[in-house]
Amino acid sequence: MNEATAKPQAPPAHVRIFELLSGVFAAGAVTCLARLGVPDLVEKGPKSAEELASLIGAQPDALYRLMRATASVGVLSEGADGKFSETPMSAVLRSNGTPSLRGFAIMTGTEWHARGWAHLEYCVRTGCQAPENIFGAPMFQFLEQNPEQGKIFNQAMSDLSAIDSPAVADAYNFGEIRSIVDVGGGEGGLLRDILAATPELRGILFDLPQVVAGAPAILSGDVAARCQIVGGSFFDFVPEGGNAYLMKGVIHDWPDDDAVKILQNIRRVIPPGGTLLLVESLVDSKARPAGLADMLMLAIGGRERTEADFRSLLASTRFSLTRIIADRSVGAAFFGDYHLMDYELMGGDAREAVIDADKKRNIPVNLPPQVPFGSHQWPTLITPGPGAKSLADLP
Ligand SMILES: C[S@@+](CC[C@H](N)C(=O)[O-])C[C@H]1O[C@@H](n2cnc3c(N)ncnc32)[C@H](O)[C@@H]1O
Repeated sequence: MNEATAKPQAPPAHVRIFELLSGVFAAGAVTCLARLGVPDLVEKGPKSAEELASLIGAQPDALYRLMRATASVGVLSEGADGKFSETPMSAVLRSNGTPSLRGFAIMTGTEWHARGWAHLEYCVRTGCQAPENIFGAPMFQFLEQNPEQGKIFNQAMSDLSAIDSPAVADAYNFGEIRSIVDVGGGEGGLLRDILAATPELRGILFDLPQVVAGAPAILSGDVAARCQIVGGSFFDFVPEGGNAYLMKGVIHDWPDDDAVKILQNIRRVIPPGGTLLLVESLVDSKARPAGLADMLMLAIGGRERTEADFRSLLASTRFSLTRIIADRSVGAAFFGDYHLMDYELMGGDAREAVIDADKKRNIPVNLPPQVPFGSHQWPTLITPGPGAKSLADLP
């Protein structure tokens, strides 16, 4: 065999392991570059580290080394004159990038995120989550107690949503639905895209009050008149008023017992003939299994699931899976492909079904009195539009 016909050899195992382990060096450098805002500063043309250092407040030689390092993995490109230019990958880290992953990059570099990975061994040994062990609070409570970190998380989720939402809006015939409630819908990017693509549809965005505070800016313009924004916890209630309930990337944040509580609260309000739509990765996806994402979920106390896991979890709250739409264009590679799962109610009255499910799982039944349709007093209701920019604007 001569050189021209020789098959390319796979790198030896130790090289592949080294490459995996040094991913953390690349991630640290890319996150730092994004935090410093370098990708924004080279948008208009090449810049040297010297020029940027004074703008950023950095030490010139250290900044040069950072930029040279990220350029070695395609994030910036160094010219013969020592100036660095934008590349397609650095453009994704601009705050105005389309798409932008700057918020997600910043989140992965936060101390709470990094410490979670350092605690993975603790999580594997105990089956417990990291944030409670480190900060004494589960992740969403920690984010509520640390509003700056909460903002970083919300921006990261909005970044991911901006990438996935158009494909989700396109993957399903939302025209068959009259009104949809996006439960745990973050700041509303997905709901905005679905409403924009479906002119007759009305929507309710539901998430924690401090999260939906950022939603009026996103659910603005043409869609504002067709949606409501409700703040509250899905462990307390889920707004009534939808004939479809949507959750994207929500159930994977929770262990089965908590996931059941959320689903039960949807079961209480979903009308007969209603639909539940879940957008989640599947660990057993043939194309891109979500195994690595499951490590993040293990660290924060959630779990990625197989199709069989979803079937049995949902059946315990009397939803039955009707179909799975898998779309490779939906979902970041790390999380595997997103799958849009369409559930319908199993026969019977929703309220009875909740009691059945509760009995089966031996959870004490404590249902609130049934509320007539449309008369629920939501703790936090924001009507998007001019003058409704924060929770303080509520009547
Ligand atoms: C992984 S994010 C997904 C956000 C959004 N669905 C998306 O795909 O971009 C999970 C969401 O669940 C929300 N969440 C967490 N705990 C909640 C609770 N108790 N009640 C309502 N929403 C909650 C978070 O604030 C967050 O927006």
